[in-house]
Amino acid sequence: MRHLSRPPAAKWWRIGSFPKIRQYGTSPSTTVFNHALVSVAPMVDVTDRFFLRLCGIISSKSTLYSEMMHARAIVANRDRLEQFIGPPSAQLVVQLGGNEPDYMAQAAEVLQNYGVQALNLNLGCPSPKVQNCNFGARLMLDPDQVVAVCRAVHAVSDLPLSIKCRTGVDDQAGPEFLRSFIEVVTSQTQVQHVVVHARKALLHLDQAKKNLMIPPLHYDWVYPLRSLFPHLTFTVNGGISTVEAILSHLRQVDGVMLGRKIRSDPLFLVDIDNALHQTQETRNQVVTRLLPQYLTYADVEQARSKVSLNLLVRPIQHIFSGVFGRNFRRFLGKRLQLEAKNPNATCSQVVHECWEMAQTKTGRHSCESGWCSNA
Ligand SMILES: Cc1cc2nc3c(=O)[nH]c(=O)nc-3n(C[C@H](O)[C@H](O)[C@H](O)COP(=O)(O)O)c2cc1C
Repeated sequence: MRHLSRPPAAKWWRIGSFPKIRQYGTSPSTTVFNHALVSVAPMVDVTDRFFLRLCGIISSKSTLYSEMMHARAIVANRDRLEQFIGPPSAQLVVQLGGNEPDYMAQAAEVLQNYGVQALNLNLGCPSPKVQNCNFGARLMLDPDQVVAVCRAVHAVSDLPLSIKCRTGVDDQAGPEFLRSFIEVVTSQTQVQHVVVHARKALLHLDQAKKNLMIPPLHYDWVYPLRSLFPHLTFTVNGGISTVEAILSHLRQVDGVMLGRKIRSDPLFLVDIDNALHQTQETRNQVVTRLLPQYLTYADVEQARSKVSLNLLVRPIQHIFSGVFGRNFRRFLGKRLQLEAKNPNATCSQVVHECWEMAQTKTGRHSCESGWCSNA
């Protein structure tokens, strides 16, 4: 990312032998570099503009990937991008799906004009629908097409373009396959950052969800890439859910990407920032500043663009986990059903009511935050 420069080496005492700080080239696309140590993974129906807004309020240090957007959808909706991806920001990377160089180029141009600062190409999605359209993970079997797509993007835009791939597809997987795939793609394009979801894609599985669990994780196939391609940057993804694991991966690669852990516990970004960037905010302190900010934004969106209450509250449903989260989610579920039939409350009213009911029910007034008086 333009504004996410690599932190100085001195900050890395906490994780012991942190890898050497690597030097990057001097061409515009390498100095404008889209890489943070920790990133939030692209997740369809999760990392929408609301969830990313929440993550951005929680942490300014992480890179945030949008859910995958098909290039044709970007082009078709070029006049209402704000409703698609929200405002462009230095933290945001927009993930594109598709395999048509022309549309990819058009989408890149549209996004660059909109102010987006970094793009990512999806080479890992194994869902049957995506397979049928020959993009996502299937493209790993056609590296020449990947090259064509990346070149088309770079021909019209100077945005950094990273790729997010698997360790392979079906029986074409493993360290050698991965090395060769990366070699072919990066030697013929300006791609310099590779995110590897450390499990292969199995195309015969009937649900994308199974492809997040069944193929085993092989971090050991990802780690050697850093020394094989010292001029590139690698981010590892898949099954990472503790600060210890993050620190351990960062000794082997340049970045880590987390998906489901952040979906179920967005405040984990606070723990990460405290460990990596020596911030010292507690989760409660973050909730205190985040709720008024997020809910003010949500109320404006609700009034302005008639966004459904469901979409607006979805990002914060896990904010009280570990305190009175289960009761909060239960009250929220019921309240949303009522609102769907007879909508008349703002997002902040609904959340505040459910928050109070959950506290009363749980008998815990654990939010020292005093958010209740602010709300
Ligand atoms: C609900 C959901 C939606 C996802 N959508 C995308 C997507 O749009 N693009 C993508 O590259 N990966 C997508 N993924 C995969 C994640 O980015 C990530 O690679 C995967 O969840 C493994 O990381 P994790 O173990 O930290 O969750 C999705 C995963 C989930 C759970």
